[in-house]
Amino acid sequence: MSLEQELGTLAIEIATEAGALAHARRSEGVSIAASKSALADIVTEADREVEALIHKRIAAARPGDGFLGEESDAEPGTTGITWVVDPIDGTVNYAYGIPSYAVSIAAVSGDPDPRTWTALAGAVYAPALGEMFHAVRGGGAWLGGRRIAVNGEVNPAGSLLATGFGYDPASHAPQLALLGRVMPLARDIRRIGAASLDLAYVAAGRLDGYFERGLNPWDHAAGVLLVQEAGGVAVGVPGAAPTREMTIVGNATLVERLSQVLFSGAAPEVGRAE
Ligand code: IPD
Ligand code: CA
Repeated sequence: MSLEQELGTLAIEIATEAGALAHARRSEGVSIAASKSALADIVTEADREVEALIHKRIAAARPGDGFLGEESDAEPGTTGITWVVDPIDGTVNYAYGIPSYAVSIAAVSGDPDPRTWTALAGAVYAPALGEMFHAVRGGGAWLGGRRIAVNGEVNPAGSLLATGFGYDPASHAPQLALLGRVMPLARDIRRIGAASLDLAYVAAGRLDGYFERGLNPWDHAAGVLLVQEAGGVAVGVPGAAPTREMTIVGNATLVERLSQVLFSGAAPEVGRAE
């Protein structure tokens, strides 16, 4: 078994167990533990518990690997592999009882920095929807046992696009301005509320494209690999990989068009970090 396959199998195994825990905690009722970067940016007891479980399982299976999770301090490793983990992506959906939330687990090599890392394996598991999206580098993208692919054509009726908005109220006006620029390319817009699922849905052809500013590494580490392995393209600001400044995914033609409308013109905030 290749290293990628080994990491991929582990990611699926741990995401399955972590998803089951998140799902069980949800059915028992959710309590908000704290607010983080903004009042709207919440963490539940379950986010912490699920991340602790994932961390423990990874440390037991691969003790030298690094860990970068949403709810804990980054832990450097010695093997060159880092696990990038969002225990519950879509926390607000989770808190409100909307089933669109997911455990996102990726293994990357190189520095744990999305500008330079190479994602080797990823799993995005939505336990309330019973869907496991997974990929290993060079092995295609999968929904359970079915291979998935991005939509290859740009639909003349416009593209079904998704986006998201940051928690910081100050980010809303610039983000809405970006959405305004993109609308001429869209047949409609979705705001699913979990970046990992937006990315997985592009990989599965359920969405044509997705863009968002302000994502953290754990929001997109697994999902971007899914898109790439599903034949899609993922970029950030012009000439760069997806980062907090921008993530744009879809087929190559659509990504080019989205980049053009997002990065041309006069709006001053485009391309600036949150
Ligand atoms: C958030 C979700 C949301 C996206 C935000 C993320 P969280 O992650 O993925 O869709 O718009 O940028 O922070 O807080 O639910 O883990
Ligand atoms: Ca997240």
